[in-house]
Amino acid sequence: MNIYTFKQEEDFVSTGASLIASLLHTKPNAVLGLATGSSPIGIYQRLIEMQQKGLVSFAKASSYNLDEYVGLPEGHAESYRTFMNDKLFNHIDIALENTHVPNGNAQDLNEESRNYDLMLEQHGPVDLQILGLGHNGHIGFNEPDDSLDGGTHLVELQEKTRTANARFFDSLDDVPTQAITMGVGSILKAKQILLLVRGEDKAEIVKRALTVQSRLNVRHLYCNVIQMWLYCWIKELGGC
Ligand code: F6R
Repeated sequence: MNIYTFKQEEDFVSTGASLIASLLHTKPNAVLGLATGSSPIGIYQRLIEMQQKGLVSFAKASSYNLDEYVGLPEGHAESYRTFMNDKLFNHIDIALENTHVPNGNAQDLNEESRNYDLMLEQHGPVDLQILGLGHNGHIGFNEPDDSLDGGTHLVELQEKTRTANARFFDSLDDVPTQAITMGVGSILKAKQILLLVRGEDKAEIVKRALTVQSRLNVRHLYCNVIQMWLYCWIKELGGC
């Protein structure tokens, strides 16, 4: 496991973007595991700039996103498909048909979850999985006490998760009650994981994740991966 800490957001963004670009230089048909949320936005923006300057190409790459809400109409501003199209896919040379986000409107959501894992088995493993870290240590929509070997599955969103995400919707009632998420087991199949942690408010969870006393046992979870990169932009490094 490698941990990199940055005091300036610019360094966090440029290092993360360079890492992804280097992978695409050595393996143009890389399989990328992608996340939504605020943590990767700057890196996606930098990759757009790099692609538009001809410094990187996604033309042969494919991508698999971690998760999607259930039941949001196609094109809904808060769906993770819309997020990815707006923040990355629509501005780079990736073929949209090579980008995958779980379908939260599938008739049979369990079947959709199984098929997502089958697709990952067929076309994976993911070369580089990007993750964000929730304040309680969640990854994707997997809460810290979820099984470590689970595949993609349907989750009932906990009230605290819905409340935390309500700021993006008109009201709490508009926040979906379910989502499809890659499981920790599916995530850990990635060859490399880049866990992006950004902001002072994540210092406490990073500390807990990296210490044996952690009730969340996030350390055990992440140590299973071949290599993990933790980009941590925390002004007060004492917490990291
Ligand atoms: C995103 C996702 C979430 C976020 C996490 C951190 O697809 O599944 O687990 O990565 O909630 O969110 P931010 O980056 O907004 O702090």
